[in-house]
Amino acid sequence: MTTRHFLRDDSITPAEQSEILDLAAELKADRWSEKPLSGPETVAVIFDKSSTRTRVSFAVGIADLGGSPLIITTASSQLGGKETPADTARVLERQVAAIVWRTYAQSGLEEMAAGTTVPVVNALSDDFHPCQLLADLLTIREHKGTTQGLTLTFYGDGTSNMGHSYVLAGVMAGMHVRVASPEDYAPRADVVADADRIAQQTGGSVTLFTDVNEAAAGADVMITDTWVSMGKEEEKLARLRDLGDYKVTSELMALAADDAIFMHCLPADRGYEVDAEVIDGEQSVIWDEAENRLHAQKALLVWLLRQQRQAA
Ligand code: CP
Ligand code: NVA
Repeated sequence: MTTRHFLRDDSITPAEQSEILDLAAELKADRWSEKPLSGPETVAVIFDKSSTRTRVSFAVGIADLGGSPLIITTASSQLGGKETPADTARVLERQVAAIVWRTYAQSGLEEMAAGTTVPVVNALSDDFHPCQLLADLLTIREHKGTTQGLTLTFYGDGTSNMGHSYVLAGVMAGMHVRVASPEDYAPRADVVADADRIAQQTGGSVTLFTDVNEAAAGADVMITDTWVSMGKEEEKLARLRDLGDYKVTSELMALAADDAIFMHCLPADRGYEVDAEVIDGEQSVIWDEAENRLHAQKALLVWLLRQQRQAA
């Protein structure tokens, strides 16, 4: 049996991404319609890093699907020092239906997935945040009717999990993705190359900018994220200096399309990566975006469990 995992945005195909987003919209309209975890079966949700949205949306979502969430904080478990991801997965797979893990290195997720028979979901790593992107794409579909052909501009740390996930998932959804960052904070070349390959199938594109105004021109979706991701705290002063010009302001929003929306995965630092008048203003859709974590992740779990059970 081949188990499907969701370790990066391109662990699924563009058609599968669209199928999961359709399912997310159905589950949002009829919240308790799918019970693949009835029993209840347990899903392990492991955190090496802090979380509010991811923790709540997975816990609530797993319960909505008829299951029982088991939230594990790494500091109080054997994972992350005493036991390898592969050994942890071998223990968990006999008792849980899936494993969701927020961690640092992408390689840990790959190691866990390679060693287990249950689906492994990336709930944020240093390199990607693919669950957030499913929620963001659902939000864009809701506010814009489609993702295909839209222009999305991400400001700030293009090397971050969010920068990389917008590049991959945005192009998968047929969007023209612009990343505006200083050269030293441009997305990784291999991620851009993967997105360029995907763009040939979907009609999307990726363009890197250093000029904030050029990147805003006519954009349909304006996005930013913290300049200091979890794990980068020691670089805080340098990052505030290096990224200071990449703030989303009202002046920048005025260069985007008249009906542009503003998004942020949260948590936000008002006054740093975004001005309060933008994130709290009329174009901001951040609360829909945060709620959609629930619906998108439920759809992902339903879809992964279907693949698992069909293959068995
Ligand atoms: N956006 C997001 O993943 O938020 P949390 O860190 O609160 O989970
Ligand atoms: N880039 C941020 C996202 C938080 C949800 C971080 O990794 O801290």
